[in-house]
Amino acid sequence: MADLRINGETRVTGIFGDPVAHTLSPAMHNSAFAALGLNFVYLPFHVTKDGLGAAIAAVRALGIAGVNITVPHKEDVLPYLDEISEDARIIGAVNTIVNRGGRLTGYNTDGSGFLRAIREEGFETRGADAVVLGAGGAARAVCVALGKAGVRRITIFNRTYRRASSLAEHVAKATGAEAEAFSWEELETSGAAAIRAAGIVAQTTSLGMHPQENEKPPVPGGIFHKGQLVVDLVYNPPQTGFLRAAAAGGAATQNGLAMLLHQGAAAFELWTGREAPVEIMRQALMDTFVRRHADNPHL
Ligand code: ATR
Repeated sequence: MADLRINGETRVTGIFGDPVAHTLSPAMHNSAFAALGLNFVYLPFHVTKDGLGAAIAAVRALGIAGVNITVPHKEDVLPYLDEISEDARIIGAVNTIVNRGGRLTGYNTDGSGFLRAIREEGFETRGADAVVLGAGGAARAVCVALGKAGVRRITIFNRTYRRASSLAEHVAKATGAEAEAFSWEELETSGAAAIRAAGIVAQTTSLGMHPQENEKPPVPGGIFHKGQLVVDLVYNPPQTGFLRAAAAGGAATQNGLAMLLHQGAAAFELWTGREAPVEIMRQALMDTFVRRHADNPHL
């Protein structure tokens, strides 16, 4: 546990979400503050939909240095802010707020965190082909980030086709990448060819997440291969059935803890102006995750 020395000059950061009880972010950020000797603290705040406006007003009133915004507030928070970064505007969601003298700016570090995570695996985005499964909030951040990072073509599959097509249209217009939408059923047909041809495949739906460990997107067998990077944003369990299939085909795999880590590192840098101690944060994240699962495998 971080060695907290709270005093009159301690700067407060935290996370607003509902639910927020199981967040791993306090462990990650408090360890990082302690490692750099920064007089900051990071706290969880359970903020309901009805309380969001008052909570944002409290950031100004209490001089809170910055907060992360998580489910279900990432989109609803936009109207309360003074300024929105370009990434957050294009993604349409904010996960990090910085308070500069009462002026609140909204950022989105989910997209940049995803890019930092895949670059850690040595993945080169420029000119690559990508497949994204899902078309919700996480998929939006991933697709916009990939498009802006020079990916040539993004193929999106989603259970609700309409969401896939509107995301594809948005990404093409906002980033200049080619983007095409398919229904979930087409994963078994056109999906096979798209996945085989892709350098990166990102699974952004909740399929395979506890307690649905036995589920996975209906991709045909034998389509993953060496040279690909397959990312599943799920991290509980750490290896989903989808990642197991990818690894069996020889692909490199990464779970959602990497994006969680790097979105946190990017937020840390916005709040403190210091380079994030990524290895300290990774260790804190892993230790807390492992300890929590030893205590209660259902979390
Ligand atoms: P997040 O912010 O985590 O992306 P979200 O915006 O609610 O959450 O999006 C959830 C994604 O998971 C969506 O793509 C959703 O598909 P729909 O758009 O059809 O709802 C997908 N999803 C959730 N449960 C699913 C399931 N059982 N099968 C297939 N896709 C599923």
